[in-house]
Amino acid sequence: MTQGSTQFLKLGVIGDPVSQSPSPDMFNAALQELGILGIYHHYHVTTSELEEFVLKLRHHEIDGINITIPHKQAIIPFLDTLTHEAQKIGAVNTVYRSNGQLIGHNTDGDGFWMSLQKHLSSNLSHEHVWLLGAGGASMAIGYTLLNKGLNHLTVCNRSLENSKELVTKWQTQFPKAAIQTHDWNDFLLKGDTQATLLINTTSLGLKSQNPWPKLNFLQHLPKTQTVCDIVANPIATELLQNAENLGFKTVAGWEMLLNQAVLAFHKFTNQNAPQACMQTALLRALGSHI
Ligand code: ATR
Repeated sequence: MTQGSTQFLKLGVIGDPVSQSPSPDMFNAALQELGILGIYHHYHVTTSELEEFVLKLRHHEIDGINITIPHKQAIIPFLDTLTHEAQKIGAVNTVYRSNGQLIGHNTDGDGFWMSLQKHLSSNLSHEHVWLLGAGGASMAIGYTLLNKGLNHLTVCNRSLENSKELVTKWQTQFPKAAIQTHDWNDFLLKGDTQATLLINTTSLGLKSQNPWPKLNFLQHLPKTQTVCDIVANPIATELLQNAENLGFKTVAGWEMLLNQAVLAFHKFTNQNAPQACMQTALLRALGSHI
Protein backbone atom coordinates (compact mmCIF):
# COMPACT_ATOMS: atom_id res chain seq x y z
CA MET A 1 0.00 0.00 0.00
CA THR A 2 1.37 3.38 -0.91
CA GLN A 3 1.22 6.04 1.74
CA GLY A 4 0.79 9.43 0.15
CA SER A 5 1.33 12.46 2.35
CA THR A 6 -2.31 13.52 2.04
CA GLN A 7 -3.85 10.06 2.32
CA PHE A 8 -5.86 9.34 5.45
CA LEU A 9 -5.22 5.71 6.32
CA LYS A 10 -8.28 3.74 7.47
CA LEU A 11 -7.39 0.54 9.28
CA GLY A 12 -9.09 -1.83 11.71
CA VAL A 13 -9.58 -5.26 13.21
CA ILE A 14 -12.59 -7.40 12.36
CA GLY A 15 -14.00 -10.23 14.46
CA ASP A 16 -16.97 -11.54 16.39
CA PRO A 17 -16.52 -10.69 19.22
CA VAL A 18 -13.95 -7.93 18.68
CA SER A 19 -14.41 -5.19 21.29
CA GLN A 20 -11.92 -6.91 23.62
CA SER A 21 -9.06 -6.57 21.10
CA PRO A 22 -6.32 -4.12 22.17
CA SER A 23 -5.14 -3.70 18.55
CA PRO A 24 -6.61 -0.17 18.16
CA ASP A 25 -4.54 0.97 21.18
CA MET A 26 -1.32 -0.30 19.59
CA PHE A 27 -1.97 0.90 16.04
CA ASN A 28 -3.36 4.32 16.92
CA ALA A 29 -0.35 4.96 19.18
CA ALA A 30 1.97 3.92 16.32
CA LEU A 31 0.22 6.10 13.72
CA GLN A 32 0.41 9.07 16.07
CA GLU A 33 4.07 8.43 16.93
CA LEU A 34 5.08 8.43 13.23
CA GLY A 35 2.80 11.36 12.34
CA ILE A 36 0.80 9.24 9.88
CA LEU A 37 -2.72 10.59 9.31
CA GLY A 38 -5.10 7.74 9.99
CA ILE A 39 -7.25 5.77 12.39
CA TYR A 40 -7.59 2.14 13.43
CA HIS A 41 -11.05 0.94 14.57
CA HIS A 42 -12.80 -2.17 15.92
CA TYR A 43 -15.27 -3.55 13.36
CA HIS A 44 -17.78 -6.05 14.67
CA VAL A 45 -18.41 -8.29 11.65
CA THR A 46 -20.46 -11.50 11.79
CA THR A 47 -19.84 -14.41 9.43
CA SER A 48 -22.85 -13.50 7.28
CA GLU A 49 -21.54 -9.89 6.94
CA LEU A 50 -17.99 -10.88 6.01
CA GLU A 51 -18.25 -10.91 2.20
CA GLU A 52 -19.94 -7.50 2.13
CA PHE A 53 -17.40 -6.06 4.55
CA VAL A 54 -14.54 -7.05 2.24
CA LEU A 55 -16.10 -4.81 -0.44
CA LYS A 56 -15.20 -1.81 1.77
CA LEU A 57 -11.55 -2.69 1.13
CA ARG A 58 -12.18 -3.07 -2.61
CA HIS A 59 -13.95 0.30 -2.70
CA HIS A 60 -11.16 2.05 -0.73
CA GLU A 61 -13.44 2.81 2.23
CA ILE A 62 -10.90 0.90 4.34
CA ASP A 63 -7.22 0.37 3.54
CA GLY A 64 -6.19 -2.58 5.67
CA ILE A 65 -7.53 -4.95 8.31
CA ASN A 66 -6.44 -7.47 10.88
CA ILE A 67 -8.62 -10.50 11.34
CA THR A 68 -9.49 -12.27 14.56
CA ILE A 69 -11.86 -15.07 15.63
CA PRO A 70 -13.74 -16.54 13.73
CA HIS A 71 -12.80 -15.23 10.26
CA LYS A 72 -9.14 -16.18 9.71
CA GLN A 73 -10.02 -18.99 7.30
CA ALA A 74 -13.46 -17.82 6.19
CA ILE A 75 -12.10 -14.61 4.64
CA ILE A 76 -9.80 -16.41 2.18
CA PRO A 77 -12.32 -16.97 -0.67
CA PHE A 78 -13.08 -13.21 -0.78
CA LEU A 79 -9.45 -12.15 -1.37
CA ASP A 80 -7.49 -11.96 -4.66
CA THR A 81 -4.27 -13.59 -3.57
CA LEU A 82 -2.40 -14.92 -0.55
CA THR A 83 1.23 -14.43 0.41
CA HIS A 84 3.38 -17.55 0.57
CA GLU A 85 3.06 -17.70 4.39
CA ALA A 86 -0.73 -17.34 4.40
CA GLN A 87 -1.04 -19.98 1.71
CA LYS A 88 1.10 -22.50 3.58
CA ILE A 89 -0.53 -21.75 6.94
CA GLY A 90 -4.07 -21.79 5.50
CA ALA A 91 -5.23 -18.77 7.53
CA VAL A 92 -5.06 -14.97 7.22
CA ASN A 93 -4.72 -12.37 10.00
CA THR A 94 -3.81 -9.33 7.84
CA VAL A 95 -5.35 -8.01 4.61
CA TYR A 96 -3.87 -5.10 2.67
CA ARG A 97 -4.23 -3.65 -0.82
CA SER A 98 -1.43 -3.65 -3.34
CA ASN A 99 -1.81 -2.64 -7.00
CA GLY A 100 -5.58 -2.84 -6.63
CA GLN A 101 -5.43 -6.42 -5.33
CA LEU A 102 -6.55 -7.62 -1.90
CA ILE A 103 -3.68 -9.61 -0.40
CA GLY A 104 -4.12 -11.99 2.54
CA HIS A 105 -1.11 -12.42 4.78
CA ASN A 106 -0.36 -14.06 8.12
CA THR A 107 1.89 -12.50 10.78
CA ASP A 108 0.83 -14.77 13.68
CA GLY A 109 3.50 -17.42 13.08
CA ASP A 110 6.41 -15.02 12.66
CA GLY A 111 5.08 -12.89 15.54
CA PHE A 112 5.12 -15.93 17.81
CA TRP A 113 8.58 -16.93 16.57
CA MET A 114 9.95 -13.46 17.39
CA SER A 115 8.62 -13.79 20.95
CA LEU A 116 9.90 -17.34 21.41
CA GLN A 117 13.37 -16.93 19.94
CA LYS A 118 14.82 -14.90 22.78
CA HIS A 119 13.62 -17.46 25.35
CA LEU A 120 14.98 -20.55 23.55
CA SER A 121 18.13 -21.98 25.10
CA SER A 122 18.73 -24.71 22.52
CA ASN A 123 18.34 -25.16 18.78
CA LEU A 124 14.69 -25.57 17.74
CA SER A 125 15.51 -28.89 16.09
CA HIS A 126 16.24 -30.32 19.58
CA GLU A 127 12.88 -29.34 21.03
CA HIS A 128 9.82 -31.55 21.40
CA VAL A 129 6.92 -29.12 21.17
CA TRP A 130 3.46 -29.86 22.55
CA LEU A 131 0.92 -27.64 20.84
CA LEU A 132 -2.42 -27.36 22.66
CA GLY A 133 -5.24 -26.41 20.27
CA ALA A 134 -5.86 -26.85 16.54
CA GLY A 135 -7.49 -23.56 15.50
CA GLY A 136 -6.20 -20.64 13.41
CA ALA A 137 -3.41 -19.67 15.82
CA SER A 138 -2.22 -23.26 16.08
CA MET A 139 -2.12 -23.51 12.26
CA ALA A 140 0.20 -20.48 12.09
CA ILE A 141 2.46 -21.44 15.00
CA GLY A 142 2.81 -25.13 14.09
CA TYR A 143 3.60 -24.40 10.45
CA THR A 144 6.12 -21.68 11.33
CA LEU A 145 8.00 -23.82 13.87
CA LEU A 146 8.16 -26.81 11.49
CA ASN A 147 9.34 -24.49 8.73
CA LYS A 148 12.07 -23.14 11.05
CA GLY A 149 13.39 -26.66 11.65
CA LEU A 150 11.28 -28.23 14.41
CA ASN A 151 11.49 -32.04 14.12
CA HIS A 152 9.23 -33.26 16.88
CA LEU A 153 5.68 -31.97 17.38
CA THR A 154 2.66 -33.33 19.27
CA VAL A 155 -0.73 -31.68 18.76
CA CYS A 156 -3.29 -32.06 21.51
CA ASN A 157 -6.80 -30.71 21.00
CA ARG A 158 -10.20 -31.14 22.63
CA SER A 159 -11.64 -32.31 19.26
CA LEU A 160 -9.32 -35.02 18.03
CA GLU A 161 -10.54 -34.77 14.41
CA ASN A 162 -9.32 -31.15 14.18
CA SER A 163 -5.83 -32.05 15.38
CA LYS A 164 -5.72 -35.07 13.04
CA GLU A 165 -6.53 -32.84 10.08
CA LEU A 166 -3.68 -30.47 10.95
CA VAL A 167 -1.20 -33.29 11.52
CA THR A 168 -2.05 -34.90 8.16
CA LYS A 169 -1.48 -31.58 6.38
CA TRP A 170 1.83 -30.86 8.16
CA GLN A 171 3.08 -34.41 7.62
CA THR A 172 2.67 -33.82 3.86
CA GLN A 173 4.43 -30.43 4.07
CA PHE A 174 7.22 -31.72 6.35
CA PRO A 175 7.62 -35.45 5.63
CA LYS A 176 10.82 -35.79 7.70
CA ALA A 177 9.35 -34.42 10.95
CA ALA A 178 7.77 -36.66 13.60
CA ILE A 179 4.28 -35.19 14.09
CA GLN A 180 1.51 -36.84 16.08
CA THR A 181 -1.75 -36.22 17.90
CA HIS A 182 -2.45 -37.03 21.56
CA ASP A 183 -5.69 -37.45 23.50
CA TRP A 184 -6.70 -34.18 25.20
CA ASN A 185 -8.11 -35.62 28.44
CA ASP A 186 -5.17 -37.97 28.84
CA PHE A 187 -2.76 -35.03 28.52
CA LEU A 188 -4.68 -32.89 31.02
CA LEU A 189 -4.27 -35.66 33.62
CA LYS A 190 -0.83 -37.02 32.85
CA GLY A 191 1.21 -34.43 30.91
CA ASP A 192 4.27 -35.79 29.11
CA THR A 193 7.77 -36.23 30.44
CA GLN A 194 9.39 -35.83 26.99
CA ALA A 195 7.95 -32.37 26.28
CA THR A 196 10.46 -29.50 26.20
CA LEU A 197 8.17 -26.69 25.07
CA LEU A 198 4.43 -26.36 25.73
CA ILE A 199 2.39 -23.83 23.76
CA ASN A 200 -1.24 -23.10 24.61
CA THR A 201 -3.16 -21.81 21.58
CA THR A 202 -6.62 -22.63 22.95
CA SER A 203 -8.82 -19.92 24.41
CA LEU A 204 -8.66 -21.52 27.87
CA GLY A 205 -7.74 -18.90 30.46
CA LEU A 206 -9.05 -15.98 28.39
CA LYS A 207 -10.31 -13.50 30.99
CA SER A 208 -12.29 -15.45 33.59
CA GLN A 209 -14.85 -16.83 31.15
CA ASN A 210 -13.02 -19.97 30.07
CA PRO A 211 -11.18 -21.54 33.03
CA TRP A 212 -8.91 -24.58 32.64
CA PRO A 213 -10.71 -27.77 33.75
CA LYS A 214 -7.47 -28.92 35.38
CA LEU A 215 -3.79 -28.07 35.32
CA ASN A 216 -2.51 -31.44 36.64
CA PHE A 217 -0.35 -31.84 33.54
CA LEU A 218 2.07 -29.18 34.82
CA GLN A 219 3.05 -31.56 37.65
CA HIS A 220 4.12 -34.16 35.08
CA LEU A 221 6.22 -31.99 32.78
CA PRO A 222 10.01 -31.76 33.07
CA LYS A 223 10.91 -28.57 34.97
CA THR A 224 13.47 -27.67 32.28
CA GLN A 225 10.70 -26.97 29.82
CA THR A 226 9.22 -23.62 28.80
CA VAL A 227 5.49 -22.88 28.96
CA CYS A 228 4.04 -20.39 26.43
CA ASP A 229 0.50 -19.06 26.48
CA ILE A 230 -0.80 -17.06 23.53
CA VAL A 231 -3.76 -15.85 25.62
CA ALA A 232 -2.84 -12.22 26.35
CA ASN A 233 -5.70 -11.09 28.56
CA PRO A 234 -5.06 -11.30 31.49
CA ILE A 235 -1.30 -10.80 31.11
CA ALA A 236 -0.62 -13.31 33.91
CA THR A 237 -2.92 -16.14 32.81
CA GLU A 238 -3.87 -19.00 35.10
CA LEU A 239 -1.57 -21.30 33.10
CA LEU A 240 1.43 -18.93 33.29
CA GLN A 241 0.92 -18.18 36.99
CA ASN A 242 0.79 -21.89 37.87
CA ALA A 243 3.77 -22.65 35.63
CA GLU A 244 5.85 -19.87 37.21
CA ASN A 245 4.95 -21.04 40.72
CA LEU A 246 6.25 -24.50 39.79
CA GLY A 247 9.52 -23.05 38.45
CA PHE A 248 8.97 -23.22 34.68
CA LYS A 249 10.29 -20.60 32.31
CA THR A 250 7.34 -18.83 30.66
CA VAL A 251 6.55 -16.76 27.56
CA ALA A 252 3.49 -14.48 27.84
CA GLY A 253 0.89 -13.99 25.12
CA TRP A 254 1.23 -10.20 24.92
CA GLU A 255 4.64 -10.63 23.28
CA MET A 256 3.17 -12.47 20.27
CA LEU A 257 0.28 -9.99 20.12
CA LEU A 258 2.76 -7.13 19.92
CA ASN A 259 5.02 -8.79 17.35
CA GLN A 260 2.24 -9.82 14.97
CA ALA A 261 1.00 -6.19 15.08
CA VAL A 262 4.50 -4.82 14.43
CA LEU A 263 4.74 -7.01 11.31
CA ALA A 264 1.22 -6.05 10.15
CA PHE A 265 1.96 -2.33 10.64
CA HIS A 266 4.78 -2.60 8.12
CA LYS A 267 2.43 -4.21 5.57
CA PHE A 268 -0.14 -1.43 6.05
CA THR A 269 2.24 1.54 5.93
CA ASN A 270 5.54 0.39 4.35
CA GLN A 271 7.18 1.88 7.43
CA ASN A 272 8.92 0.23 10.37
CA ALA A 273 6.64 0.11 13.39
CA PRO A 274 7.58 2.09 16.52
CA GLN A 275 7.71 -1.04 18.66
CA ALA A 276 8.40 0.57 22.05
CA CYS A 277 5.42 2.88 21.82
CA MET A 278 3.16 0.02 20.67
CA GLN A 279 4.33 -2.08 23.63
CA THR A 280 3.53 0.70 26.09
CA ALA A 281 0.07 1.16 24.57
CA LEU A 282 -0.59 -2.59 24.60
CA LEU A 283 0.44 -3.15 28.20
CA ARG A 284 -1.56 -0.13 29.31
CA ALA A 285 -4.64 -1.45 27.47
CA LEU A 286 -4.25 -4.97 28.88
CA GLY A 287 -3.69 -3.62 32.37
CA SER A 288 -6.91 -1.69 32.20
CA HIS A 289 -8.81 -4.82 31.11
CA ILE A 290 -7.68 -7.03 33.98
P1 ATR B 1 -7.85 -19.11 17.10
O1 ATR B 1 -7.99 -18.46 15.76
O2 ATR B 1 -7.54 -18.10 18.20
O3 ATR B 1 -6.92 -20.26 17.13
P2 ATR B 1 -10.09 -20.89 16.95
O4 ATR B 1 -9.72 -21.17 15.53
O5 ATR B 1 -11.53 -20.65 17.27
O6 ATR B 1 -9.31 -19.63 17.50
O7 ATR B 1 -9.53 -22.10 17.86
C1 ATR B 1 -9.80 -22.19 19.21
C2 ATR B 1 -9.07 -23.42 19.81
O8 ATR B 1 -9.34 -23.45 21.22
C3 ATR B 1 -9.51 -24.76 19.25
O9 ATR B 1 -8.42 -25.64 19.23
C4 ATR B 1 -10.57 -25.21 20.27
O10 ATR B 1 -10.73 -26.62 20.33
P3 ATR B 1 -11.79 -27.42 19.38
O11 ATR B 1 -11.08 -27.66 18.08
O12 ATR B 1 -12.10 -28.63 20.12
O13 ATR B 1 -12.98 -26.49 19.22
C5 ATR B 1 -9.93 -24.72 21.55
N1 ATR B 1 -10.90 -24.52 22.64
C6 ATR B 1 -11.83 -23.55 22.73
N2 ATR B 1 -12.54 -23.67 23.89
C7 ATR B 1 -12.02 -24.76 24.53
C8 ATR B 1 -12.32 -25.44 25.75
N3 ATR B 1 -13.28 -25.01 26.57
N4 ATR B 1 -11.58 -26.53 26.09
C9 ATR B 1 -10.59 -26.97 25.27
N5 ATR B 1 -10.26 -26.38 24.07
C10 ATR B 1 -10.97 -25.31 23.71
